[in-house]
Amino acid sequence: MAKKSRVVIIGAGAVGSTTAFTLLLRNRMDELVLIDANHKKAVGDALDMNHGMPFLGGAKLWAGTYEDCAEADIIVITAGAAQREGETRVDLLKRNAAIFDSIITEVTKVNSHGILLIASNPVDIMSYLSLKKSNWPVNRVIGSGTLLDSARFRYLIGEKLDLDPRSVHGHIVGEHGDSELPLWSLANVAGAKLSLDEADKLEIFENTRDAAYQIISAKGATYYAIALALDRIITAILRDEGAVLNVSTLLQDYHGISNVFLGVPCIVDRTGVREVMDIQITEEEKALLHRSADKLKGLIESIGL
Ligand code: NAD
Ligand code: LAC
Repeated sequence: MAKKSRVVIIGAGAVGSTTAFTLLLRNRMDELVLIDANHKKAVGDALDMNHGMPFLGGAKLWAGTYEDCAEADIIVITAGAAQREGETRVDLLKRNAAIFDSIITEVTKVNSHGILLIASNPVDIMSYLSLKKSNWPVNRVIGSGTLLDSARFRYLIGEKLDLDPRSVHGHIVGEHGDSELPLWSLANVAGAKLSLDEADKLEIFENTRDAAYQIISAKGATYYAIALALDRIITAILRDEGAVLNVSTLLQDYHGISNVFLGVPCIVDRTGVREVMDIQITEEEKALLHRSADKLKGLIESIGL
């Protein structure tokens, strides 16, 4: 009998539970496990979603323990503190670094073959920390990176040009956070350059970069679009797609940048990040990417990694 595909989500908060529901709706895997420090919350979510199974069918879902990670193909980490209004993602660093220390220890006690998919913030640093702590191969530790930001970017460009965002190609790279940057030199529709003036571009980029602040100020948290972004990465892995996605990965001599996780276009398949795409960017974009890398390196040093 073929092995059942299993996804474990650690952290059944707003992002974790929405991701679970998205995966169930799209029937992505055979087994889905929710783990949370607040086990009661995970039990409640599992019950609530299981009561929808007569309308869905498909996966088996339960609230579990770290033992359940042993058979996991993908372990998604959405646990930890989230920004409150007025906080940046980086403000979460110390709190979430301590939480990750214990989570990665527990996961790696029982699993050495899976893929770690990190979403907790600051996601690039949490991914770096997960790599160092797990000692797993680089391709199997993935951050959600700037996939969400790139989706926001494509949506906003589509809105401005009255086009379906799926037809818009555009990339946000660098930190998932305040130092991210748009690769306008690569943005296109059907290979054609975008008909946007500088003011439009600035407005689109600022609304992309600041989207989370706008949403957190309006309703306290972001979770629907990140759930879809995580679903996209999980699907690329489980279906061995070779999809190009702007996930966060450890860069080595990437336009002169090394030893830092940043969101860049990567080929994702069942091995995780199969390859970092070799893309041409302008000198100005390169300088901004270096600035983003330097910021993250400073933060990594600040927590003694
Ligand atoms: P939340 O507060 O709703 O949920 C966090 C959950 O983590 C809670 O249920 C809590 O009990 C659990 N938790 C805390 N410590 C734990 C531990 N040691 N082990 C297991 N579970 C633990 O927060 P949220 O809104 O779901 O956000 C979760 C994280 O995702 C935050 O860091 C947030 O910044 C991040 N996030 C990232 C993106 C992205 O694009 N990468 C998007 C949205 C949110
Ligand atoms: C986001 C989170 C908060 O929605 O990182 O961008």
